[in-house]
Amino acid sequence: RDIPKYVTALRIPPAMPTVATDAERDTYEIAVRQFRQQVLPPAWPRTTVWGYGSTAHPGSFGYPAPTIMARVGRPVRVTWINQLVDGRGDYLPHLLPVDPTLHWANPAGGIEHRDRHGRWDGSRQGYRGPVPQVVHLHGGHSTQESDGHSEAWYLPVARDLPPDFAVSGSAYREFRSRFAERSGLRWTPGSATFEYANDQRSCTLWYHDHALGLTRENVYAGPAGFYLLGGGDELPDEVLPGPAPARDDPPNASHHDIPLLIQDRSFTADGDLRYPERYSAGGDGPPVWVPGFSGSTMVVNGRTWPTLTVRRRRYRFRLLNGCNSRFLMLSVAANATARPARPVLPVWQIGSDGGFLPEPVPHERVTIGPAQRVDAIVDFTDVPAGTELYLVNEGPDGMYGGGRPGVDFPPADPQTTGQVLRFVVTEATGADPSVPPEQLRLPSHPRLGATQRVRRLSLNERSSHGSTVMLLGVLDERGRGLPLRWSDPVTEQPTLGETEVWEVRNFTRHVHPVHLHQVQFELVGRGHSGRVRPDPGERGWMDTVLAYPWEVTRIKARFDLPGRYAWHCHLLEHEDNEMMRPLSVLPGGG
Ligand code: C2O
Ligand code: CU
Repeated sequence: RDIPKYVTALRIPPAMPTVATDAERDTYEIAVRQFRQQVLPPAWPRTTVWGYGSTAHPGSFGYPAPTIMARVGRPVRVTWINQLVDGRGDYLPHLLPVDPTLHWANPAGGIEHRDRHGRWDGSRQGYRGPVPQVVHLHGGHSTQESDGHSEAWYLPVARDLPPDFAVSGSAYREFRSRFAERSGLRWTPGSATFEYANDQRSCTLWYHDHALGLTRENVYAGPAGFYLLGGGDELPDEVLPGPAPARDDPPNASHHDIPLLIQDRSFTADGDLRYPERYSAGGDGPPVWVPGFSGSTMVVNGRTWPTLTVRRRRYRFRLLNGCNSRFLMLSVAANATARPARPVLPVWQIGSDGGFLPEPVPHERVTIGPAQRVDAIVDFTDVPAGTELYLVNEGPDGMYGGGRPGVDFPPADPQTTGQVLRFVVTEATGADPSVPPEQLRLPSHPRLGATQRVRRLSLNERSSHGSTVMLLGVLDERGRGLPLRWSDPVTEQPTLGETEVWEVRNFTRHVHPVHLHQVQFELVGRGHSGRVRPDPGERGWMDTVLAYPWEVTRIKARFDLPGRYAWHCHLLEHEDNEMMRPLSVLPGGG
């Protein structure tokens, strides 16, 4: 049966309720739970998903999660709780097949092939135990204790946890005691308390699960939400379209600053999430990792192909590519299926991952890699009421190797994944006080200081046990890629306070979205020489950059928080299978 499009309204995630606000900070208590939600159109079955919500407001749980509304300079403290348990308090197993042979957040240590009675049942179920979780604020300028390190995971507090299981990862124990020492805070089992200083530029961040070797499946199941960092003194709020949902909004308030979490998903006939299952040992072994995922439907803010009714005015959209491994190339077109799409309204990009661009950039078609954000304005002012417009996608179905749609690769299926969202334009009500994007003056970002060190790094392809794996690494003396795994000795160890240029040479056929924790960086150059100027939309701060095949991607960052972090490919399948490396910022010796 074909899933009908544009029969449901776009859901705008509400603001996350706090549990306390005082002079010091906003405090949240946010759990991840399992529930059923109407992701497919009404009349279709509901989907079992995971999502975050405030423990103080049972109605707040959703996929995507409510948006955390933060202000520059005002700290946020969150106690993240793993509540993946059923009504009796027994743990819930994963919704999707877990490959227990990867290097992953394995609570059972060497005894992973067991069920809750201590037996490996020999079925194709793989790991059926409790699910580790740990939350990462993507793009946040976070200390190591609050970063959501992949090995700082924790299990839910469940009645039936097997006694010999580890209830948390190695980094969790280390970070908990350090954080507790500094803050005097008591931690409760099954949770982690993190603090976000919000001492960075106003920008669009997001939070998602980051457990080692499980991120692709944990995020696919739903837990993700926006974290909008507003304020600061860079730009008065009124010049941009608004408002965004606020914590005390009545239901049905109208918003003109709308986050759009765009994801591809596949479903079973029962409406449940489907993720490719392949099994080793002729079908009798545990599930095996797949190198990439391409879903058959597009889901925006947790609903397949929704409709957004807009007024004849300007809207700000926080576009987030939340797909596991799909690259999006979006435009606003009058026709949903014609390819190449003929854009009718520009997407004015005003910001990238880490804050505003130096000037607004009109895109006919905007490319967004997994985890990247594009802060954009679309101006519907001159569109006649009654017009229907479409947000269409011409990125590839499957892996992206670079180039242009229709020339270098076939664009996504115009009947399905080539469509994202429908806009229905209606008459304006009241004046629009925002400044037209072509007249907007944006603040430039602070410049990073002189470079103290240049690092030469590599993206590599290797075959291992019959499948191809992608690995980060360094360059050897002869300029060849030397691939390294997550557990190999740390090689990226900047000194605290220093500015570095990383030259990342891509020796693979694929585009990889390279993400660094802790920092927002500048893209200095790319191309074969590494000297080609970044596109206008990449001239702000970013935390995730597209590294094209056979090119050198040069980024510059200042590392100003000490401790253990990570850098990785944000194609989640790659990240989960070793395309992640430690990044350790060492205290300056002086
Ligand atoms: Cu969005 Cu380390 O990840
Ligand atoms: Cu990759």
